[in-house]
This record gives sequence, C-alpha cells and structure tokens, in this order.
Amino acid sequence: MATTVVNDAEALPGTAIPVPGLRRHVLDLDDFTADEITATLDNAAAMRDVLERDVKKVPALRGRVIVTLFYEASTRTRISFEEAGKILSADVINMTASASSIEKGESLLNTGLTLQAMGVDVIVVRHPHAGAPHFLARNLKNVAVINAGDGAHAHPTQGLLDLCTARDHLSELAGRKIVIVGDVLHSRVARSAVWGFVKAGSQVVLSGPPTLMPDPFTQGGWGSAASSNGVANPLANVSVEPDLDAAIDDADLVMALRLQSERQQRGFFPSLREYIRRWQVNDARMARAKPDALLMHPGPMNEGIEVSSSLAHGERSLIEEQVTNGVAIRMALLYQLVGAAAVED
Ligand code: CP
Repeated sequence: MATTVVNDAEALPGTAIPVPGLRRHVLDLDDFTADEITATLDNAAAMRDVLERDVKKVPALRGRVIVTLFYEASTRTRISFEEAGKILSADVINMTASASSIEKGESLLNTGLTLQAMGVDVIVVRHPHAGAPHFLARNLKNVAVINAGDGAHAHPTQGLLDLCTARDHLSELAGRKIVIVGDVLHSRVARSAVWGFVKAGSQVVLSGPPTLMPDPFTQGGWGSAASSNGVANPLANVSVEPDLDAAIDDADLVMALRLQSERQQRGFFPSLREYIRRWQVNDARMARAKPDALLMHPGPMNEGIEVSSSLAHGERSLIEEQVTNGVAIRMALLYQLVGAAAVED
C-alpha cells in the first residue's frame, strides 16, 4: 500500500510529499528502500526551509510527547532531536540514565513500559548495546522508537543526514565514489552510511588499519541480502582498500571516522603517530581525490588525528552543514513517524 504524507499547508512549506509506506520505527537503514530514503531527504529539505525562518516554530507535532533516552553521552544527536521536536511544537523530555531509576537497576524493558504508560509517543534511544532499540520496538505497542546509536551497530539518523549533505553538493549520488576511512570496526556511523550510500547507488571504499575493518567485509559481505529491502546484493558496491592514498584516488567525497578509543579493548595500530602518518585525511591526500572532492566527519572529531585542522575548517569541509542537516533530518523523521496523515492512493 502506497501512502502519501499530507503536509499541514499552514505549518510546513511545500505540497504533499510522497513517502512510500509509513513506518512505525527507525532502527537502521537496512530496511529502508531507496525511494523511502529519497522521500525522507526531500522532507528534510522542506524542514530546512523552516529552520531558515526568523521564527522557527510550526505546530505539526503539537500534543505529541518525545523522550530522548540516552545511556551514552551525546551533543549533536540529543540536542538536534530536542531542537527538532521543539521546532515542530512537540513536548520534548530529556532523560539521562544517570539521573533516572536506571541508576537503581531498572531494566530497559521496564523503563520503556513506564514511558509508554505515561503516554509518550516517541522514544529516541541511544544505548551501548547493539539491538537495544530493536528490543524496545518489539516490546512497546504504542510508542515509536528511533535508534540514536546502538553500540557499534547502527546510527540511522546520522546515515540519513550524511546522505542529505552529500546529495546537496553532489546532486546525484549514483555512481559517486565515497571513501570512508578510519575505525570502521567500531563505527555504527559507518554501518548506516554504507547502507545509505549503496542504496543510493554509490561506490563505497572502506580504508583504515586492516585490524579496524570488520571481518564480514574482508570475507566478502556485511549482512544478508534478504534484509536489504529490495536491493539484490547491496554490498556488491563496497570494497576495502587499506592504503588510503590508493583508496582516495578520484574520490568524490571522503568521510573520516572518529577513532573510538572507548570501544577499543586492545591496541589496533602501533601508535597515534603511525595512524596519522597512514590514515589521517589531510590536504596532501585530498589532492589525490577529484578537484572538487568534499570532506565529511560525523563528529565529535579528534582534530589533528583523523583529519587535519586545515582541512576540517577549510572550504571542502561539510562538517558544520552535517550538523545543520541533522536537525532537518530529525524533524523529517519525527514528522513522518507521528505527525503525518497517511492516505491511500
Ligand atoms: N555524530 C554523533 O552521533 O555525535 P554525538 O555523539 O555528539 O551525538
């Protein structure tokens, strides 16, 4: 059944924005179709118009309650969800594990059931364990769950904002060469970005220390084709090239990843100096990419390690645009989950 999202004409810019099928939860990008990704990016563009108004307030989610439930630290994701919800007129409640009954041992399930009993419409959850948002989604009947990052598994809203930023500058993502470099092994950002870019038809090259490449990739796959929602072999367009100088040749866009020292249980490379020498994205390396190639980083950055300061703050950098688009994408997703009216074609 195809559905159409109908905008409140007074609340939001633009006319009806078609979304192929309204979903209940946002858990990863593996179950998004290419059409749904495109529709979400189009909705985010409409939301960006709201962000550019003098008065950033529309009534689209009036009467809705959103809880951000974060078991891990965050600046960008938590604050942008709060800002997105407030601009859309939802009531947003921020809950941190350390200041709640989670400290007394309350389980994730009982925390979720408690919030559901209070009439919460959306739980935005970040959790150190992969699968925690999926567990909540399976067990809560009346709440939409959005994954704001689960362990090293997925960060779908980051993936969408990365796609949104890349599409703004590259127009067409199909056929583009996207290089993702660094600690892929521990990166939920990389996993969701890979799903997004391959569904958009890009070629993805992963680079970094071989010890920080996930085994499934080096063994020829990552996830099952069955979970790819309409894409026959979604990872056929993903390759691994540990030599960054070779990987970056002719790239359209380079995304540097944060070294996730909090998730690294052992030494994965000889020293930071060696890492910088071989895998830092800097001006000299970017000179091997296409002349107008762009830089992204999901943040927070270890500036001077994964990426040089001059590049991070230079004209090729889209890092701050990624942050702005993070608000627009989260507005679009909140609206699609609980603000949109669905009508059958
Ligand atoms: N990119 C990202 O998830 O940043 P935060 O940890 O600040 O939310």
